[in-house]
Parts: sequence; C-alpha cells; structure tokens
Amino acid sequence: MLRKRAGALLAAALMVSALAACGDDEGSGSAGGGGGGDGKLVLGFSQVGAESGWRTANTKSIQESAAEAGYELKFSDAQGKQENQIKAIRSFITQRVDVIAFSPVVESGWDTVLKEAQDAEIPVILTDRAIDSPDESLYESFIGSDFVLEGKKAGEWLVEEYKDETGPVNIVELQGSPGAAPANDRKAGFAEVIAAEPEKFKVIASQTGQFTRTDGKQVMETFLKSHDDIDVLYAHNDDMGLGAIEAIEAAGLKPGEDIKIITVDAVKDGMTALADGKINFIVECSPLLGPQLMELAQTVADGGSVEKRVLTEETTFTQEQAKEALPDRKY
Ligand code: AHR
Repeated sequence: MLRKRAGALLAAALMVSALAACGDDEGSGSAGGGGGGDGKLVLGFSQVGAESGWRTANTKSIQESAAEAGYELKFSDAQGKQENQIKAIRSFITQRVDVIAFSPVVESGWDTVLKEAQDAEIPVILTDRAIDSPDESLYESFIGSDFVLEGKKAGEWLVEEYKDETGPVNIVELQGSPGAAPANDRKAGFAEVIAAEPEKFKVIASQTGQFTRTDGKQVMETFLKSHDDIDVLYAHNDDMGLGAIEAIEAAGLKPGEDIKIITVDAVKDGMTALADGKINFIVECSPLLGPQLMELAQTVADGGSVEKRVLTEETTFTQEQAKEALPDRKY
C-alpha cells in the first residue's frame, strides 16, 4: 500500500524551488511532479554527484531501474555537498514521497534529518555508502559494497605481488573524498593488510584526490615532485588512477611498470587501462544497485520487512582477466 498524503499539490509547488536549490538537473522521472497522485510509487533519491565513471553508471542504473519498475523518481544531484543532500531529503519529506534513498556524501551528521524522515513515517534506504550513526532505526536497509574488504583485497594483491622481494616497497595513496565511507574504509582495509609487514610496505604519501580524475592527476604530480622512489600507487578509485597515469606518463615514467597501480571500481576506462598494462590490479565495486534498490523500495513502501544489510557481489581483475571481461563490460 503506497503512502498517499494530503497536500501533495502544495508540496509539489514547494518542491520545484527546493530541488532547484539542490542542483537537481539530472531529472529522470518527474523531478517537478507531485506526490504520486497517479498511484505510482514515488522514490526520492539524493545522489552524491557526478564525480566519477562509477557514479555516472550508478545514476544510470537507478534511473533506468525506476523507469522499468514504473516508479516516479525524484532525483537530486548533491554536487558533492552534504548540505545539498540534507536540503533534498527535507524537500522529499515535504513532498511526502513514499520512500527516500540516498548515497551519503560523508558518513557523519545524518541523525537530525533522518529523525525528521522517521517522524514523518517515510522509510529511508541507504545505497552505496553507510552512515556512522549508532541508531540503526533511522534507516530500513543499507545496500552496497563492503569497502573495508575492497581495501583488504587491494592489500592482499600487493603482498602477493612482492612476496619474493625484501623491500622496502614505497607506496603512495590517493584517497577518496574526505569523510566518505569508501575513502575511510578502503584506506583502513588496505592498511590492515600491509601492517603485517611494516618494515617492507611503507605508505610514503597519502592524500585525497576527491575521487576525480583531475585531482588524481594533480596530486600525483605533487607526489612525483617530492618522491623519486615511488614503487606503487594505490588509488581508491579508477578515475583518480587514470588521472595519475597521465601525470606518470608526463613525468617520463611507464605506469604499470615503473610504478605499479592498484585501483578500485572496474569501470570501462579503468578496465581498458588494466588490459593495456597501465594498471596492474583492480578491485571491483559494482555501481549496478538500481534493480535491488527498486525491490527494497517496493517492499518497505508495502510495509514489509527487509534485510538491514544487503551486500553487493564483487570480484577482482588482473590484466589477463580484464582482457577477457572487457568485451562484455556494461559500464
Ligand atoms: O561510493 C562509491 C565510490 O564513489 C566509487 O568507488 C567512486 O568512484 C565514487 O566516486
């Protein structure tokens, strides 16, 4: 049973200006529509932004899945800002949507706005990224990857790759955007694995590249200026790794040979660089969360119970595996 609420028309009028303020420009579904007067499930979704190939694929998956399910999607792009997501969530509450889903820009600072959604009896689903609130009643379910495990897989590949060498192995790290769950967790998982051999594996520089190609390139340039002994780059996503490859090549070095590169995501551009020998290993993080999100949204809107944690299935890719997988890669 969908939640249908009075005042939908007034809310629709308010929504137009509220969402415009949040940078709502992607609008699959009817971003300017009302609260599901035609009986369709209305899903308000606040996306992080458009910082990476992964994010673009994730947005597409959610928009296409909502259309296939016949839901009305109110999509808002937060442009990387938590304040925009909070505004969007408040706007969804005002519009009395049936379900709110969002991928949190950062982990902390969500309790107040999620309490408002709870008080309005609108179920919330976290997608892709977790929040660090101790109050798990604030959301129905969290669907996404295990980012700590992704970091561990990156570390395990590195340990295996250098098992016959004594080291030291000098590593530089490009972190994701500060405070975001994948940045915190991928760093932690990797650090935990290499900590077993502290004299061998040394992280000599670690800085944010904001999950973007541009920042990845710029930060790698500064790493290369201050260190002439870099053996390995660990980038928390493909886009930063791809930017760094440009910086490495501009410095007259061969990515994948002079500097070994590990990234996370496995989007098409990353997989192509892996197959070309410019990246050495990629840990997959699937952006195709749309179909499962729609199922969860329908269940919670119907008042059904769902798993608190829905884990995404993922693998890893070597250069040979990338060559095989590339022709069928969907994103
Ligand atoms: O939250 C998922 C991460 O966010 C992706 O790995 C990264 O590319 C994106 O920006």
